[in-house]
Amino acid sequence: MLELDHVTLVHNPGTITEVTALRDLSLRVPRGQMVTIVGTNGAGKSSLVRSVAGEERPSRGRVLFDGDDVTRTPDHRRAGRVARVFDDPHAGTLPELSIEDNLALALARGRRRRLRFALTAARRAEMRERLAVLGLGLEDRLGDPVSLLSAGQRQSLTLVMAGLRDPEVLLLDEHLAALDPGTQRTVLGLTVDLVERVGCTAIMVTHNMEHALELGDRLLVMSRGRIITDVSGAEKRAMTVPALIDRITGAGDVVSDRSVLGDGPARPVRVPAGVAGGPPPAADGPREAAA
Ligand SMILES: Nc1ncnc2c1ncn2[C@@H]1O[C@H](COP(=O)(O)OP(=O)(O)O)[C@@H](O)[C@H]1O
Ligand SMILES: [Mg+2]
Repeated sequence: MLELDHVTLVHNPGTITEVTALRDLSLRVPRGQMVTIVGTNGAGKSSLVRSVAGEERPSRGRVLFDGDDVTRTPDHRRAGRVARVFDDPHAGTLPELSIEDNLALALARGRRRRLRFALTAARRAEMRERLAVLGLGLEDRLGDPVSLLSAGQRQSLTLVMAGLRDPEVLLLDEHLAALDPGTQRTVLGLTVDLVERVGCTAIMVTHNMEHALELGDRLLVMSRGRIITDVSGAEKRAMTVPALIDRITGAGDVVSDRSVLGDGPARPVRVPAGVAGGPPPAADGPREAAA
């Protein structure tokens, strides 16, 4: 069970730039559950992910893994239990190192003797097998520097690396955002396979409403540091894209047009009141734009 217990996260407290990214947020995710999270920019999705990873320390509240209070455990000491895939395909791998060295480092993650990371012949064969499953031909390029790989190949490799240590929690923060639709499908398939094989808890932040609805057991909508919708089972299956957009925009936030309204630039736009996907016409009062 992954637990956030009344977590509040304030950035730059006491300064003019103070921002409350998470507000008294509580969440319990049973082991093996896959949760998708949607919400407008600035809703607090990445703050939630970073709090679970240990990159941010909550101002108040607790984070627990299977009952262990890890609130004060720094991210590098959670690395054996948590794996992450970032939105930036460059963030998860070391570009100058070869595919093989990246895999070896991932295997050593969270272990004390990190310097001994060369692969044995048996390990190398195992890594070849894991890469062959991707169908990208990476198993024949173990010596190539990662800088030669495309964005989709890098995210696929990062996923393989994430799965090497059988993480308890897999954190995916918009990890498909930089990929073209075809590659998104491939990497999405790999993601689902990984979660099923490892049986880990997974939290996937996405701007893609279809992915949010189609994947996972549970869907959260975040707004202004809170979870405003939490659906699973039949309720989740009955949810439609317009209904989901309604939930998001009904909270009075802005919607990224790239994510919901087509392929334009990633510029925040407001869905007009009363139109499909917009807030109800009765909604009134000033609405502050999210960052
Ligand atoms: N390191 C930081 N310093 C100051 N403010 C931050 C920092 N990280 C996030 N924020 C602010 O916290 C709020 C939530 O951000 P974030 O969790 O990144 O949202 P999301 O991932 O949903 O877009 C935003 O208002 C954002 O500007
Ligand atoms: Mg984010």
